[in-house]
Amino acid sequence: MKITFSNKPISTAPAGYVRVRVTEDDKGTKRIIREVHSEKDKKNSYVDIFEIGAGKFSDLNLRKFIILCRAVVQAAKQYRAKKIIIELDQIFETGKQLQLSTEELLSKAVQNFEMANFEFTAFKTKPKEGWSLVEEILVYGKSSKEIEAAALRGQIIGQEVNACRELSNTPGGDMTPRKLAQSARKAMTDKSGKLLTSVSVKILGEIELKKLGMGALLGVGNGSSEETTFTIIEYKGGKKNDKPIVLAGKGITFDSGGLNLKPSNHIYEMHMDMSGAASVIHAVVLAAKLRVKKNVIGLIPAAENMPGNNATRPGDVLKSLSGKTIEVLNTDAEGRLILADALTYAKKFSPSVVLDVATLTGAALSALGLYASALLTRDDMLAAQLEKLGESSGDYLWRLPLWDEYEPLVKGDFADVTNSSNAPGGKYGGTIEGGMFLWQFAKDLECPWAHLDIAPRMTSAPGEELAKGAAGAPVRLLLAFIESWNT
Ligand code: BES
Ligand code: MN
Ligand code: ZN
Repeated sequence: MKITFSNKPISTAPAGYVRVRVTEDDKGTKRIIREVHSEKDKKNSYVDIFEIGAGKFSDLNLRKFIILCRAVVQAAKQYRAKKIIIELDQIFETGKQLQLSTEELLSKAVQNFEMANFEFTAFKTKPKEGWSLVEEILVYGKSSKEIEAAALRGQIIGQEVNACRELSNTPGGDMTPRKLAQSARKAMTDKSGKLLTSVSVKILGEIELKKLGMGALLGVGNGSSEETTFTIIEYKGGKKNDKPIVLAGKGITFDSGGLNLKPSNHIYEMHMDMSGAASVIHAVVLAAKLRVKKNVIGLIPAAENMPGNNATRPGDVLKSLSGKTIEVLNTDAEGRLILADALTYAKKFSPSVVLDVATLTGAALSALGLYASALLTRDDMLAAQLEKLGESSGDYLWRLPLWDEYEPLVKGDFADVTNSSNAPGGKYGGTIEGGMFLWQFAKDLECPWAHLDIAPRMTSAPGEELAKGAAGAPVRLLLAFIESWNT
């Protein structure tokens, strides 16, 4: 989507552009008005004005503003308006009580225009009339260097969220662990194919993982003919000795459940079980593209969870990189296994903080529905910061407890820990159980750690004005976190 600026009076707007006007009519009101300028030349001298009701501007908050911006683009798509005009003053007027600077407001608006303008079409035949996407937004009003930079920032963020969605949406057969690793490297390059400034990418294959002793990660990939990989992305934007922020993302390229095979209705959409990985990749890309002055490491353990001749069996014991042994009671609780090794691996960077991001449990959906990811951490300060950034970024979070009381859930009978509980109460609180398992490995990190269970946000939800499929969470939150975390 092209974004251009004009500070000429709006009356000089070129023909063929649809002008968007946000009104205080009820939310959902849509109206097209044709303003004829010359009665003599009705055919050529008119402008189409697209009115969209937002409700009382004084009732708008950031959440509603985000949806409004997306609704503008969705309406334009429906109307097949490829070029639209938006007035800066309108954006500032609608968002005036949000207590954001004009730059932030515009950046948020553009970010959400981009997100609404995304559709996953990679596997569809292009219709004769083309895709119904908006090609250009012409922004009218008094702008400045700062304003234009803010729009560009919003655009870059929106584009990376969309790139994350593209990656997540790619079917399992087309997005194997090896391809996910290669996509990570590709995402970290510029248009000429060179790695972005201060970025390095290292991809480990099964031989190296065996040597390292990543038995938990390897155990998950055993049933698949696709090679298990582990990718390390480094972005060194900070001072040499600044301790890095480590982000680890679950990269299960397809989760069949393994020998504990999922039933049909649960296996659907499990090609998106690498959404955590995709979000980490594109958050680090954003840090690099926006030249954030921080050191950031992205860790991507990737495997395909399949039943097969060599598949890990329920009851098998895996030896993790930490040395802890894990009794696999359920092969469908695989995300925590691959993240366990990633968390242990994180330690070698002496991080200042570690976040892991994973579509870890269906139970998170039961607990929170479709509109918030679950946040689990033992660190109250980190929790408070993440919750605040969740609200301001649009990637909403809700905290669940990770108290000592839950620890017996993951104690093993025949190994140090178990990946799924058969203890009393073990069928409840699945998201907490997942977090508690990860804590067994994160406690060795000696730095704040949080687990984001993004299963509820894997796909877009009704009312969000986003295309069907991957939602791109929590790329915006991770960027905000990278920018604001002080080591
Ligand atoms: N990838 C799934 C969780 C999931 C479910 C994500 C639905 C997004 C939408 C995960 O690997 C899984 O299978 N979890 C099990 C854990 C259980 C076996 C302890 C679950 O949630 O049932
Ligand atoms: Mn699973
Ligand atoms: Zn999974």
